[in-house]
Amino acid sequence: MSRTTLLIVDDEEAILKQLTWAFKNDFTIVSARNPDEALSAQTAKKPDLMILDLSLTDNPDVLEGFQVLESALQTNPRLKVIVITGHDDSENALNAMRNGAYDFYAKPVVIDELRVILKRASYLLSLEKELDDLREQSLEGHEFEGIVAMSENMLSTFDTIKRVAPTDVAVLITGESGTGKELLAMAIHRRSPRRSSPFVPINCGAIPENLLESELFGHEKGAFTGAHVARPGKFEVADGGTIFLDEIGELPQPLQVKLLRFLQDQVIERIGGREPIQVSVRIVAATNRDLSKMIEDGSFREDLFYRINAINIDLPPLRERGNDILLLGMRFLHHYKREYSRNIKGFSKAAQHALFRYEWPGNVRELENRVKRAVIMAAGNIIQPGDLDLSCTEDDKGAGSGDGGPAALSRFTGRSLKGARDTVERHLIANALVRLGGNVSAAAQELDISRPTLHDLMKKHGLNPEDFRERKGRK
Ligand SMILES: Nc1ncnc2c1ncn2[C@@H]1O[C@H](COP(=O)(O)OP(=O)(O)OP(=O)(O)O)[C@@H](O)[C@H]1O
Ligand SMILES: [Mg+2]
Repeated sequence: MSRTTLLIVDDEEAILKQLTWAFKNDFTIVSARNPDEALSAQTAKKPDLMILDLSLTDNPDVLEGFQVLESALQTNPRLKVIVITGHDDSENALNAMRNGAYDFYAKPVVIDELRVILKRASYLLSLEKELDDLREQSLEGHEFEGIVAMSENMLSTFDTIKRVAPTDVAVLITGESGTGKELLAMAIHRRSPRRSSPFVPINCGAIPENLLESELFGHEKGAFTGAHVARPGKFEVADGGTIFLDEIGELPQPLQVKLLRFLQDQVIERIGGREPIQVSVRIVAATNRDLSKMIEDGSFREDLFYRINAINIDLPPLRERGNDILLLGMRFLHHYKREYSRNIKGFSKAAQHALFRYEWPGNVRELENRVKRAVIMAAGNIIQPGDLDLSCTEDDKGAGSGDGGPAALSRFTGRSLKGARDTVERHLIANALVRLGGNVSAAAQELDISRPTLHDLMKKHGLNPEDFRERKGRK
């Protein structure tokens, strides 16, 4: 591990010298004489520890010291700050601790005592780092082709994928919306000998019936009005690879027949074409409908069902995946806190309870969306049930969050009116921006303030409208 860096902030030259000399063998020392220097040293040198003399100026008022403390912790919440107070100044010492200082020490300074405090802080830091690494590693351990899971039923799904992927058998993936059916289809493709050829997904439910046939099988020039040029369909595009027929239950009867023909003979015919075209395509299909019911009422062909359902993989809903909920939640949290540069440490106990208690009708997709929003909205650095828009019961409150009441206020644990006002203000603005996709004008209108005022407030709260716009590249 690299050497720990200690930033010493004191306006008295003699003390700076004394402390630098005393600790130069233990740490890399950076010093600062005033708030400005302290701030620039913090950005430039990224210290791990800080000794801060609270009475920075001759001014008996310690406000400047507190400001340094606040901005330092904002830049690096992990920073361990030890404040030095005048002797008999326990009020400021306690205040500093309440504002996030790691420890305090009253003058006069005894070097050996201060050294013990610093060593302990530095040890704590190394533990925290280790824990972070472990946490990331343990999350890495449970991933298969982008599918994150540790529950028994999902691990056995991984086994099934490993066994069926190398073959050419058709696979039907069933499961509720958002359980990861498409992800699983891709995993099968990537684990198959077809991996260097295309994976071509097509959603049978999203394309109007009259276009779907041409999408799937292609058409010749002049096959119908508007067919100015010949076009290959998805089957030809997927030649050598895998076609993923999503929402196969929506496939209209005539196309069911055409698909069956392909499955029997490995040939397709373009609309208006006379020659059958030979293609080598593996079929993976998915549905969240009950195909056996559809067979009973005659809307889905039984012979086709048996062909596409050589192997069935049924994805369990998220609520039946035990600890996967938290594992996935942490994954998404890590991802989005990086994407939105927010220092969020984790879920409160109450939030964890709420995650487990919720039914997750939208499954993993819903979890991802809720965590993403929570990362953007959270007022503190621990996600609370309200941030996830999940309610919390009396039991959960006992779990140590102090939550309850209106969502935004519930996250505010201090007593000051200003603090409460800031929390609510940030919450309302972030909320409007999320709902309006980062549209500042619309948000200003909704919040009934002018655009420039909203810009000022966003700046104050570190909110960037860009962060609220839909991202391309990730679904
Ligand atoms: N186990 C998982 N690990 C990581 N991400 C997952 C997992 N399951 C689903 N996701 C993510 O959740 C989202 C939804 O997954 P996917 O599109 O595969 O679901 P689906 O079952 O096809 O949903 P639908 O029925 O609505 O089409 C995607 O962004 C996907 O990457
Ligand atoms: Mg899907």
